[in-house]
Amino acid sequence: MNILGIESSCDETAAAIIRDGRQILSNVVVSQIDIFKAYGGVIPEIAARSHLEAILPVIHQAFNQANLDWSDIDAIAVTHTPGLLGSLLIGTLTARTLALLHQKPLYPVHHLKSHIYSTWLSPSSTISDPPTIPLSTPEFPVLTLLVSGGHTQIIYSGSHQDFQIIGTTRDDAVGECFDKVAKILGLPYPGGPAITQAAKSGDPRRFSFPHPKVDHLDFSFSGLKTAVLRTVQSATNQPINFPSHQLANLLSSQQVADFAASFEQTAVDILLEKLTLACSLHPEVKNLIIAGGVSANQLLRTESLKRFPNYSLFFPEPRFSGDNAAMVAAAAFFEIQSKTPATNPFSVKLQPRSLIS
Ligand code: KG4
Ligand code: ZN
Repeated sequence: MNILGIESSCDETAAAIIRDGRQILSNVVVSQIDIFKAYGGVIPEIAARSHLEAILPVIHQAFNQANLDWSDIDAIAVTHTPGLLGSLLIGTLTARTLALLHQKPLYPVHHLKSHIYSTWLSPSSTISDPPTIPLSTPEFPVLTLLVSGGHTQIIYSGSHQDFQIIGTTRDDAVGECFDKVAKILGLPYPGGPAITQAAKSGDPRRFSFPHPKVDHLDFSFSGLKTAVLRTVQSATNQPINFPSHQLANLLSSQQVADFAASFEQTAVDILLEKLTLACSLHPEVKNLIIAGGVSANQLLRTESLKRFPNYSLFFPEPRFSGDNAAMVAAAAFFEIQSKTPATNPFSVKLQPRSLIS
């Protein structure tokens, strides 16, 4: 079964064609990162306009890359929630129109579910590069640490039909925290890769930041961001009302590196402490997934491999850790396998909430 996936929830316009939920026939992602570098973050109106310009060429390219046409497509899958409303509108309206025009069943997919299914995609398989299916895929029950720019959650899944959020951030998402700390340190957007780069020459024990005291499996990252800000203010002898965007000018490159390394280590420790707690509450789980944009983080990957030696750990291939449409099509495939009915293209809902239904 060939599924055309469409993704436009934030600042990536993406289309992909996936066979049987795992084999990548094409994968096209146009990122707006270069536009938003100048602003230090995403501007929703500009994102929506950029999606509008990019979406049809991106879909055409996905067909060209796969060397397929509409007669080869069995279904269309599109991200319908959560995300920026204007951005979601462009993707869903395009998918609905194409579904009606080409008479294809339409599957609206939850963005966080897609991130989970990014770990089902087989590595480096395209039509020109014969498919190499990895030996294993996650086996239920699974715990997922979902870490992105908008969400930080622990999700328990008993099957393809069962996704329960058992822990979530009470304020900022961890990716958002990387982005905000990068801004304080004068590093570019997006903050995650920039922090990792700066941290290479830094000492992760140079500064110590408190871990939030949040009950059970919930997270909090706004305090960590403020702790970095206060420590930077104190290291530069500035009062708390000193404009934060001017602080970076007062830091040496070694200080930036030390702050980046200390912050990255603390963020990873906080995430993995909660995942450890989730594992102790669910001893029946032997498979762990770490997915979402922040799962590209190398320290998070190496530390989790160290701390969970008795588990099967699954990460997306780095090109599928950020937003893409291959994971959308993969998620839809497993929904179809689970007999989820297609949606009437006239009635796709853009749910503002982030619950996985
Ligand atoms: O999943 P994603 O692409 O978009 C959302 O659905 O939010 O995640 C984007 C987030 C950004 O906050 C970015 O800074 C973070 O993922 N990120 C990273 C890394 N690469 C991207 N964070 C830490 N380390 C990275 N290597
Ligand atoms: Zn995402």
